[in-house]
Amino acid sequence: MKKAYKQLTSSDSDLSTTITGLSHDGRGIATLKDGKTTFIRGALPGESVRFKLTRKHTKYNEGEVIEILSASADRATPPCEHFGTCGGCSLQHLSMTAQIKQKEKTLQEQLKHFGKVEPDEVVPPLFGSPLNYRRKARLGVLFHRNTQSFQVGFREKDSNRLTNLNRCEILDARVGNQIPAIKNLVESLSQSLNIPQVEIAASDETVALVIRHLTALTDDDIKKLTAFGAAHHFHIYLQPSPPARVHKIWPLDDTELLSYSLKEHDICLQFHPLDFTQINSEINPRMIQQALDWLDLQKTDTVLDLFCGLGNFTLPIARYAEHVVGIEGSDDMVKRAQKNAELNQLTNTEFHTSNLVIVPRAQPTWMKKSYDKILLDPPRSGAKEMIDLFPKFAAKKIVYVSCNPATLARDAGELVHKHGYKLKKVGVINMFPHTSHIEAIALFSR
Ligand SMILES: C[S@@+](CC[C@H](N)C(=O)[O-])C[C@H]1O[C@@H](n2cnc3c(N)ncnc32)[C@H](O)[C@@H]1O
Repeated sequence: MKKAYKQLTSSDSDLSTTITGLSHDGRGIATLKDGKTTFIRGALPGESVRFKLTRKHTKYNEGEVIEILSASADRATPPCEHFGTCGGCSLQHLSMTAQIKQKEKTLQEQLKHFGKVEPDEVVPPLFGSPLNYRRKARLGVLFHRNTQSFQVGFREKDSNRLTNLNRCEILDARVGNQIPAIKNLVESLSQSLNIPQVEIAASDETVALVIRHLTALTDDDIKKLTAFGAAHHFHIYLQPSPPARVHKIWPLDDTELLSYSLKEHDICLQFHPLDFTQINSEINPRMIQQALDWLDLQKTDTVLDLFCGLGNFTLPIARYAEHVVGIEGSDDMVKRAQKNAELNQLTNTEFHTSNLVIVPRAQPTWMKKSYDKILLDPPRSGAKEMIDLFPKFAAKKIVYVSCNPATLARDAGELVHKHGYKLKKVGVINMFPHTSHIEAIALFSR
């Protein structure tokens, strides 16, 4: 159903106000004379701005800056020419220090609000390079009928349109400045109108492009794609409509998998370009190290790793514990984790496929056991159903890695108020600089 907005009038097109806060998605918050909360894109706390309203809802308004009348000391020059239109980033106009401070503030507010908990200690944030960090992305492709041209990029803010990118400053440098070349490639194909997206996955050695195509490609198309792969040193995969499977067409070697290393732990993990992998390859090893340090692993420990994916935490944990049990919802990822354990000659791991939002009446064996330590890294929805089992697991230490402070806070509230754990430490992991996404890590113990 289409949303109904209130009619905008000419007096809404040039207003001024002072910004008092910053929303979680990076918009300045002001209270207008009529008492209505207004979210203004492009404005920062403390600033006086001229702005226009873009949408009026019953309970709040949305607007956009026209002119900054007095700028905040935290204002920064956005590094990207597409900032403001592209929906990929929302915080480039805020200094990195202020971005991290804002994320720490949100994390603590949400812990208090949703979980009624306060940590004993807030640890310094983990951070790395603010640019060229992103190893995974899905670029949309669209033919624009008015201009008769192709656009390749991320969705624009609050719209279904694509930003036609010349470059992306947060994407891995090997591909961030190749977007026009990718666009020219798509445009040159006979089936260009039936290519809705190009997915990017970068490994330590290479960059893979996964070309989604809704109709069959011609031999000539394949030739162009492989020539592009050879010229740019990209691996090229095709993603036809199911049931046909994703397959690699360049280079023609004997593996479809990419890999990344965790050198500190002598681990190498293989992955398929469409698998879940942590986006930021500089931060990932630091996050793992923090988790290992907080778990304080002993050679006698049995550890449970919930939402283990392809073994990103499980395998490093296995180097220092007696035994690790990794649980994951995707069968393919479980197979990948098992293979990764084998490749790294780890014999003290076991992996099981389980849907972790359900506690079945006939519980699998792993669910009936107790563990010395637990690591969990759930999706945005959190781990509510698993938390109910934590008294039975009886772990002394729990490290919770989260990409959503609201569900982390909810689950932390249960662990503390229902199950007797203490929230010892929390910290922000600056996994997604310049975006409003917040990654966090928390340690519970009892
Ligand atoms: C944030 S990722 C973490 C993966 C892994 N720990 C890592 O660091 O790469 C969350 C994982 O939860 C899995 N997942 C999502 N929903 C699930 C469910 N209902 N039950 C079990 N696993 C699920 C996803 O497949 C994904 O591998």
